Amino acid sequence: MKAAVFHEHGSTENIKYEDFPDPEIGPDDCLIKVKAVALNGFEPMILGKTTALRTPLPMIPGGDIAGEVVELGANVDKDSWRPGDRVSLYPLIKGEGMIGESRLGGCCELVRVPADCLIPIPDGLGDVEAASLPVAYGTALRMMITRGKVKKGETVLILGAAGGVGVACVQMAHAAGCEVIACSSADWKLDKLRGLGADHVINTQDQDVRTWVYEKYGKPRMGEGGGVNVVVNYIGGDTWVDSLKIIHPEGRMLTCGASAGYATENDIRYIWTYEISIIGCNAWSRADQAETMRMVTDGEIEPVIHAVRPLSETGGAIQQLIDRDYFGKIVLQP
Ligand SMILES: NC(=O)c1ccc[n+]([C@@H]2O[C@H](COP(=O)([O-])OP(=O)(O)OC[C@H]3O[C@@H](n4cnc5c(N)ncnc54)[C@H](OP(=O)(O)O)[C@@H]3O)[C@@H](O)[C@H]2O)c1
Repeated sequence: MKAAVFHEHGSTENIKYEDFPDPEIGPDDCLIKVKAVALNGFEPMILGKTTALRTPLPMIPGGDIAGEVVELGANVDKDSWRPGDRVSLYPLIKGEGMIGESRLGGCCELVRVPADCLIPIPDGLGDVEAASLPVAYGTALRMMITRGKVKKGETVLILGAAGGVGVACVQMAHAAGCEVIACSSADWKLDKLRGLGADHVINTQDQDVRTWVYEKYGKPRMGEGGGVNVVVNYIGGDTWVDSLKIIHPEGRMLTCGASAGYATENDIRYIWTYEISIIGCNAWSRADQAETMRMVTDGEIEPVIHAVRPLSETGGAIQQLIDRDYFGKIVLQP
């Protein structure tokens, strides 16, 4: 089969579009023909080896896959699955880790997965849309709703709001009836965030977020208010302490990552003085993944697709992520 592969960590020049052996399936597996695969913020991190994860080489990137069942292993229930079924793949595989991170991903023509990773794609949902949902929308659903419990009338400030997870967080907070403040470093992305329901936008290149919040909502003070109810911060780095300083008494900080660095400074005084809850979120469930598909088919949210590119352009597409030259999801098709 054809695949986008890197044999060494490094830059996107290491990603080669080449012939790769077809996967062989075991008795509990299915062979899936990839129809669409979406990229995420961790693709550059894995390629560049900026995480502590051990990635076996060679590696095929891409964890968000929509495809079609081609072949079933001997033990797979033939009443549940048939060749030709359209499926979304739950990418966290027991004993194997995450597709595209610790085992071969979907930037190729065929993947092998255990049958219990298959989730049917509902009628009316396209392959590109289905591929765009798992990581970004699944994580946002878990972070904003399941763990973060954002509710109508709350003020929610989202840093890095123009990325895959961020766009989904803006859409979910808006759908929940929150007052949404979206932050990005580019005006063209902020215009799009307004179009998705952001009530306020902040360009972090020329506006200090803490100053903006203090001017708009006041400085947080116990018994008086001020600040915002919720900050969504998966940027980390030098944004972390300032985020603590803008949270309303008894407010929440939600996090699922650290794009700009995880070993951040902290200021514990703000956590106890203002009784701030810091809520972590890791991954999502199969049920969450199915729920994101239902939300789209029922018209509650619409996945934002920046571009659909051929699989042979995987390296260029990952470079687009590194250059932060996108809004929403970049999807590849074989
Ligand atoms: N724990 C989990 O289960 C889980 C699941 C999914 C994602 N994550 C994590 O969540 C984060 C977001 O994922 P994603 O796929 O949405 O990533 P993404 O598409 O790369 O978006 C991140 C956004 O953050 C901003 N950003 C990126 N690098 C930055 C930096 N060094 N400093 C400041 N801002 C930066 C960019 O915004 P602008 O260019 O507009 O400023 C970008 O649009 C990542 O850290 C990822 O690893 C975790």
